[in-house]
Amino acid sequence: MHIKHISWLKCVDCGGKISFKAGQKSAERLENGVLGCQDCNRLYPVLDGIVVMFTRSAGHSLSPKERDYIKQFNYPLSEFGCDNKTANDLDLKQIAVQENWEYQWEQICPFTESDLKGQGLLGSDAFKNFIPVEPSQINGATILVGGAGRGREAYHLAGMGAKTIVAVELGREIHAIKNLLPQNSQTELLLLRADLVALPLQADLVDIAICDHALQHVHDHKKGFSEMTRVTRDSGKVAICVYSWEGNFIMTHMVEPLKFFLHKIPLTVLYFLSLIPSLVLQFIIMFFYVPIARVSPRLLKKIPLHEHMIFWSQNKFKTTWMSIFDLFHAPISYHFRREEVSRLAESNGMSIECIRHTNSVLWSLIAVKNRPEDSIKTGTS
Ligand SMILES: C[S@@+](CC[C@H](N)C(=O)[O-])C[C@H]1O[C@@H](n2cnc3c(N)ncnc32)[C@H](O)[C@@H]1O
Repeated sequence: MHIKHISWLKCVDCGGKISFKAGQKSAERLENGVLGCQDCNRLYPVLDGIVVMFTRSAGHSLSPKERDYIKQFNYPLSEFGCDNKTANDLDLKQIAVQENWEYQWEQICPFTESDLKGQGLLGSDAFKNFIPVEPSQINGATILVGGAGRGREAYHLAGMGAKTIVAVELGREIHAIKNLLPQNSQTELLLLRADLVALPLQADLVDIAICDHALQHVHDHKKGFSEMTRVTRDSGKVAICVYSWEGNFIMTHMVEPLKFFLHKIPLTVLYFLSLIPSLVLQFIIMFFYVPIARVSPRLLKKIPLHEHMIFWSQNKFKTTWMSIFDLFHAPISYHFRREEVSRLAESNGMSIECIRHTNSVLWSLIAVKNRPEDSIKTGTS
């Protein structure tokens, strides 16, 4: 991590300032070491350039490797928030979220640069469609990516000239991000293994906060959105893309209820079981949607899910299979109604720049953080 980014951080337990405590640092970088809160003395490990910053109550999120690593610094484990408390139901849900996506991104879909350069779900056109922020606003900007996964958005944002990317992710797949960016990339990274709901960042830091295909999986999405607003500067933007309730009958009324059973199946088995619906879907896309699109685009427009299915026809099959598996295993998966999406912005005193039903199955929202003087004029504060 860059030393200059230490001052961007704040303690997730007490809000205090963070400073360097131990480890080998150069004038510019700290790859392995310990940071600490100046007020409550809570400690946070830095491992291979990733800062791990969970609240004390989520200390169980540290992996055995991270626990082993911090022992060398001879601080009591409890100062790193590793208290042996029993995990409650919410903690268990969050651990499942973390573990399921670590499995997806590391074992099932460890995508590389060549996948991101292609068409379909992982490509840059799809990203720009999900998050329709003007590329000129990305160039030179400081951008937060919430629920950054293995780095799909970070890669595309770096390609669009982002100056700094602050990537926040629960799981250890965040380690992949630094290897994904080209060697000659000018974009600076601050990588945080942390919870979007308790961002370890000072307020008013970033120009744009983005959360693409992740807020629906966050255990408290309202708090997650508020946190993104807090760290965004005045007149900056928060852009999200989430599952919509509207247009997603199969998910809301069939897959979600089925999850009661699906979640009892081990992940590896579930992955192979999801091959069957993936093959059926691929067949329908290639022998129904695609031919109709060629023969009669007008007829196609009358068929449900046509935008999304034509979009998925650009995927490699392994990406469609991964997407179906993703829909089945997600421990938390919220489908937003339109008014819930607009309320996220309004309840945080933001103005809506754009709200769009992307591919008729997702909501893309861009909200602008009002300057305090604007809020007073419009009476939103
Ligand atoms: C469907 S994946 C999307 C990843 C990435 N945005 C992409 O589209 O490639 C959702 C990601 O959100 C992460 N996530 C879920 N809840 C989170 C939270 N509370 N804080 C940070 N990340 C979270 C998951 O670990 C997972 O990697």
